[in-house]
Amino acid sequence: CLSAPFLPVVLRADGFGGDPFYQCLIAELAPEQEDKQGHLIGYALFFFGYSVNTGRIVYLENLYVVSESRGRGIGKKLMSEVAKVALARGCVEMKFTVAEWNVRALAWYRQLGAQDKTEAGGWHCMELGGEALHRLAGDRR
Ligand SMILES: CC(C)(COP(=O)(O)OP(=O)(O)OC[C@H]1O[C@@H](n2cnc3c(N)ncnc32)[C@H](O)[C@@H]1OP(=O)(O)O)[C@@H](O)C(=O)NCCC(=O)NCCS
Repeated sequence: CLSAPFLPVVLRADGFGGDPFYQCLIAELAPEQEDKQGHLIGYALFFFGYSVNTGRIVYLENLYVVSESRGRGIGKKLMSEVAKVALARGCVEMKFTVAEWNVRALAWYRQLGAQDKTEAGGWHCMELGGEALHRLAGDRR
């Protein structure tokens, strides 16, 4: 979910503006369901990165399927399509983070073959933002 200052207009500009920061695959209801044609039921948002250990990587930032469409293979299909795009770009890994409370998603990713790097290697997901980021940049706000 988006934090209050992070408006949809920013999300749109960052993905579909002149300098896209991410890519997005969407799932829509099939055309035969005429009353709901073009109705969005899921998405996978991702971007590319690099690791000195492995090389090209894709980072899956968000995966979502609306609750009434879950359990029908849509999430797996979205992941599969991201994997295809990633492999075509020479990526060797897909990275993503999952909140500890999201036990259903954790189990779901595991059955797709994902490894928990916190459990397996003690890796912590770090973040440096807000005031700390500005301080680091020597920015006196
Ligand atoms: C996680 C999520 C994307 C899964 O999407 P989905 O469309 O419901 O999943 P699928 O129907 O594609 O599941 C495919 C497979 O996973 C299995 N599966 C589903 N839920 C599972 C679970 N909790 N644990 C283990 N396996 C599960 C299905 O049986 C199916 O297996 P099969 O291919 O062998 O038949 C969806 O539940 C969701 O949007 N959740 C809320 C948002 C979220 O938590 N996103 C992840 C944030 S990191």
